[in-house]
Amino acid sequence: SAITVAILGATGAVGTRMIEQLEQSNIEVRDLRLLASPRSVGKVQTFRGQEYEVSAATPDSFIGVDLVLSSAGGSVSKKLIPHAVKNGAVCIDNTSAFRMDPEVPLVIPEVNSDDLDWHHGIIANPNCSTIQMLVALAPLDRKYGLNRIIVSTYQAASGAGQSAWSELLEEARQHLDGQAEIAKILPVSGASHHYPLAFNLLPQIDVFEDNGYTHEEWKMIHESKKILRHDLNNSDLKVTATCVRVPVPVGHGESVYFELEQNPSVPEIQTVLDQADGIVLQDDPRTQLYPQPITAEGHQSTFVGRIRADAENPGGYNLWVVSDNLLKGAAWNAVQIAETLVQRELL
Ligand code: A2P
Repeated sequence: SAITVAILGATGAVGTRMIEQLEQSNIEVRDLRLLASPRSVGKVQTFRGQEYEVSAATPDSFIGVDLVLSSAGGSVSKKLIPHAVKNGAVCIDNTSAFRMDPEVPLVIPEVNSDDLDWHHGIIANPNCSTIQMLVALAPLDRKYGLNRIIVSTYQAASGAGQSAWSELLEEARQHLDGQAEIAKILPVSGASHHYPLAFNLLPQIDVFEDNGYTHEEWKMIHESKKILRHDLNNSDLKVTATCVRVPVPVGHGESVYFELEQNPSVPEIQTVLDQADGIVLQDDPRTQLYPQPITAEGHQSTFVGRIRADAENPGGYNLWVVSDNLLKGAAWNAVQIAETLVQRELL
């Protein structure tokens, strides 16, 4: 039966795609509430042929709401999601606010949809970089046992929101016009230094931890353990990460080195990934077929290629994985969770 849906952060890079992914989904929507900051009140969005006005999010915005999709930043989620849950809504939260809470399942439908069974009103969407990496590695973990992951990311500007995306384009214009680039947001808003991303690489995503890792790297490590081993400090699965922001608007790339307990051939790995849900295999060096951000943009799938065995370390492999960080990395994963909840009557 039809449900009432609220989108918190409806005007943002992810929020606008949540509306679009919900529109394309099989979820029957009775009413839609578009919520953002007071700055956006009165803006209009079309959904399934009808116009909806944005209103300012308050604790009372969730009365009568069945499902919340939220992507308005961690502090907004921490403040407002508890009110939504109190009012009986199920919330799929794209921020990092609740991801590590043991009462909150952290879900990628292709990987651990069974964890939806024990939700208590909040389900967390993992970090965009974690999602695409685990869509690629979980089928190999199930079949061959995964021991170790060493990942380096090439992350798009839109992962830091609409304003970071606009900043990259503006800096590119400034650079080509011979003007000095003015950086105000990246690598992370509120930091004491800002650096241009256009024609540059920034080896900082999110804030630094005391051990020298960034919080983005921390998230990839601990979210992977929670999703694959149900224990965010599991030490049988070793994970380490280096996260880099690259001057690409949309689509994260990742170079993933991984070690398996078994030693399957590359064609065997290709077959497993080719048959796995949510993956498109693009792996043919002879025809120069490999995943790229510009070909992944706008698609729900995770694209995998460049699969190679490490000749000097049996059971060690490299692969390259790309996905649209705003879709599978955020809006589509959230709507896919919502579809699964509706299908399993878990709303
Ligand atoms: P607004 O457009 O009114 O600022 P992005 O991730 O692209 O930066 O988008 C962030 C989203 O979160 C936007 O929809 C933004 O709305 C929304 N947002 C930011 N601060 C608040 C707030 N205090 N309350 C509700 N929504 C907020």
